[in-house]
Amino acid sequence: MCGIVGYIGRRDAAPLLLEGLQRLEYRGYDSAGIALGAQSGKGGKGAKSGALRTAKAVGRVRDLEARLPKRFAGTTGIAHSRWATHGAPNDENAHPHLDGEGKVAVVHNGIIDNASELRAKLLADGVEFRSETDTEVLAHLIGRDPSETLEEKVRGALRMIDGTYGIAVLHAGFPDRIVAARNGSPVVLGIGEKEMFVSSDVAALVSHTRQVVTLDDGEMATLKADDYRTYTTEGSRTSASPTTVEWEVESYDMGGHDTYMHKEISEQADAVDRVLRGRIDDRFSTVHLGGLNLDAREARAVRRVKILGCGSAYHAGQIGAQMIEELARVPADAEPASEFRYRNAVVDPDTLYIAVSQSGETYDTLAAVQELKRKGARVLGVVNVVGSAIARETDGGVYVHAGPEVCVVSTKCFTNTAVAFALLALHLGRIRDLSVADGKRIIAGLRRLPEQIAGILRDEERIAELAGEYANAKSMMFVGRVRGFPVAREASLKLKEVSYVHAEAYPASELKHGPLALIEPAVPTVAVVPDDDLLEKNRATLEEIKARSGRILAVAHREQEKADHTIVVPKNEDELDPVLMGIPLQLLAYHSALALGRDIDKPRNLAKSVTVE
Ligand code: F6R
Repeated sequence: MCGIVGYIGRRDAAPLLLEGLQRLEYRGYDSAGIALGAQSGKGGKGAKSGALRTAKAVGRVRDLEARLPKRFAGTTGIAHSRWATHGAPNDENAHPHLDGEGKVAVVHNGIIDNASELRAKLLADGVEFRSETDTEVLAHLIGRDPSETLEEKVRGALRMIDGTYGIAVLHAGFPDRIVAARNGSPVVLGIGEKEMFVSSDVAALVSHTRQVVTLDDGEMATLKADDYRTYTTEGSRTSASPTTVEWEVESYDMGGHDTYMHKEISEQADAVDRVLRGRIDDRFSTVHLGGLNLDAREARAVRRVKILGCGSAYHAGQIGAQMIEELARVPADAEPASEFRYRNAVVDPDTLYIAVSQSGETYDTLAAVQELKRKGARVLGVVNVVGSAIARETDGGVYVHAGPEVCVVSTKCFTNTAVAFALLALHLGRIRDLSVADGKRIIAGLRRLPEQIAGILRDEERIAELAGEYANAKSMMFVGRVRGFPVAREASLKLKEVSYVHAEAYPASELKHGPLALIEPAVPTVAVVPDDDLLEKNRATLEEIKARSGRILAVAHREQEKADHTIVVPKNEDELDPVLMGIPLQLLAYHSALALGRDIDKPRNLAKSVTVE
């Protein structure tokens, strides 16, 4: 979603803030803005108050850069890149938002639920609003709070709002500090040498410091150039020892690729190698998952597994559920966390719940975790971002070690998550009744994955040609059976979100129950056809489509006679095939989008990490 970045130190803030915004632009990008602090020495009570200066622009960060006034210097500032929730994308609605006197500037991620009510009260008090945003309400509340310190003013305002926020606040009367707070939207402090940063994502900080403090919900922070402290919104001090970001700064760069999507697809052999590294135990034909926090007795007591995630994470969870059923013989299913959290589901003490998330910050998934925990469930996380909210709220879990995923659309993290589930399924299986021979078989299959992925990626040129053939389709159908179905769903999502070609995913078995009516030459089908026990059934589906003059692109382990084209992928163990079969379809989506001239890393209307409801 939106990105926040703030700086306080001795360097010129504006270039640092712009660089930070550029690194966050993938989170939201309809407008951007900067506020620089008052240029005065000491802050606190009695400090000389100067004026805050702001610059805003609708569009990209480069539009903001072009619009910065000539003299726009200062050593303290906050900035924001916006993905509109309240109010259209325009200059007025861009953050930072100021109070009536222009003394307070606020950047905010999240949604203030009672903004309309508060706005009406403020309007009745004569307050004039410049924007339609919920955030401006917060700026006025802070500005009008009579407390003496900035921390108390912010606390007073936060007490009045309902909703979610990650905020950073500047006040002209307190030029020596930035105050930040978090409730439901990520806030990370970057601890430097005589300089401090604040951001919604470590991506904006890592080129300056790798020492970070992640705020918890209900936590606030005061940042000064050479000092920081954290405390609860009630004012009690909290411990805040910095941790070191594990990812290298270069891993946030494009690394010679034209888009992050391409870079991240290309990295998958290494990424899968990373999720396996140090975890395989050949002696007992199992894997070690250090952070799982589930001993053998507890694992044996699990009667059911329920996996929750959104979008691609949910699809990876569907693959995971099948792996767990197959290898551990525990009933398992996946459900969108966004649905689960609203349906007052029966929370069962014998069920192991697993929350899946790349960012670890997706609000719907986090809310599902919180609801489950409130009802006493055991919840594990399968998460990419170390120390993220979901990683911290869950009782244990598996990190997927995909490295930073910058592109809005998920690729390498989807693949790594599926592999992480294979590890978990193997682990649970070997504790329950999976044989040594099957354990060995799966381990050998896991070890083959990186080289097989590299082989698929070498086929890119051919897949690009195929994308050229299919990119102009009116609509695309994606089908798969059982193991192939989540692969088809993910591939359909990938195509629609990055190329805007309409796509539908169906279980191949369901085609004849309705969707077959859509098949015609202008609606090609992508069929996932693994060489497993369902091969003949899948071939029958291809016949059905051909009989209706449908064009077929198959992803299979050998050429499919009925298909117009086949992308042949290497065979692995049946249970692991879904990991590989999705990869050429990521390339298909990428090259379709390229052929159609789409803005691949920043698809319209989307943002990475959906931290609002
Ligand atoms: C699709 C995509 C989204 C995310 C979803 C969950 O390419 O990226 O569907 O998978 O928003 O995000 P995380 O995994 O961060 O919880």
